[in-house]
Amino acid sequence: MAAKIIFDTDIGWMNDDCMAAIFALKSPDLEVLGITPVMGNFDLNYSLLCALRLLELTGHEDVPVCRGFDRPLIHERGAYADKVWGKWALHEPVKDFPPGMPRLQADPRHASLFIAETVLAQPGEVTLVAVGPLTNVAMALRLYPEIARHVKEIVIMGGAIGRLPRGKGNITPAAEFNFWVDPEAARIVLHSGSPITLLPLNVCRRSHFSRALYLRIIDPASAYPEVAALYKQYIGPRFDDPELDRREPVLFYGVFDHACLGYVICPEIFTSVRMCVQVSVQPGLDYGVSHGYVKGDYVSGEDALPLESDLGAINVVYDMDFDHLAELYVAAVTGRAAANEL
Ligand code: BDR
Ligand code: CA
Repeated sequence: MAAKIIFDTDIGWMNDDCMAAIFALKSPDLEVLGITPVMGNFDLNYSLLCALRLLELTGHEDVPVCRGFDRPLIHERGAYADKVWGKWALHEPVKDFPPGMPRLQADPRHASLFIAETVLAQPGEVTLVAVGPLTNVAMALRLYPEIARHVKEIVIMGGAIGRLPRGKGNITPAAEFNFWVDPEAARIVLHSGSPITLLPLNVCRRSHFSRALYLRIIDPASAYPEVAALYKQYIGPRFDDPELDRREPVLFYGVFDHACLGYVICPEIFTSVRMCVQVSVQPGLDYGVSHGYVKGDYVSGEDALPLESDLGAINVVYDMDFDHLAELYVAAVTGRAAANEL
């Protein structure tokens, strides 16, 4: 039976979130109950348009899109964020949207309320897949803490665990972008007692959207020509120079957010460890850094390290069989087979 998910995302036009959304919408193993955009890589107004237009162009107009938070709980946008990846809280109307303005309207419910209502209406059945800053999810948990008992799982792309391989940060030396944008929200979610699987940069860095993968997605025999057309138009130009794929394999073609969906479909291809993950909300260089540790690694006491000893352990995924994930992804977006039969 298809897993019921809500896809919470800082979607941009044909960025990794958007490609992951296509994966989710087309996968026979997933049922997307709703999409809840949040600011992050982009201003919320833009993310909302991306989600709505994507549904129109892929034939999924029945999936509700609920507007989420347009800024983090506390973190204010600044010059550094503007210079790097984050464009949150620009509060500017979108004047030019080349894929065409959507006709489809957003659902009137706020993202956090939609998450709460949907999870509580189907206890134990709904998985939240969160691939942007965790603001919407954190506020849903603050409004209805009982979500923690009723959600099937919260599967998160976020953080970077320095004690595990490939654990450097990507926005500051040790912080990952989604957690750094809203560290307070990440803390609320990780402290909520919900069943959580975290896919930090450690595992996402095993992914690589290659030219070969692209060519398989645009296969003329694809059952979803509309999807192939989107990849051709918006991803194709990036592959005009075949050398580029070799020179910059991850930064522009990373398929980071796909890993969360792959995990929901086929957890066997991932390697995890139980860890406590503590997110720093200390202003400065440690802001948004996720520290992972195994209980018993350190003595936690009055004059020992400032570990939060009451923090429950979560499932931290740090490695995967990317070739298998790529097969699931291609099978889903080309409609080739029931993806989980691979
Ligand atoms: C995360 O930030 C976003 O740019 C990606 O979509 C991913 O969710 C990686 O730090
Ligand atoms: Ca994202």
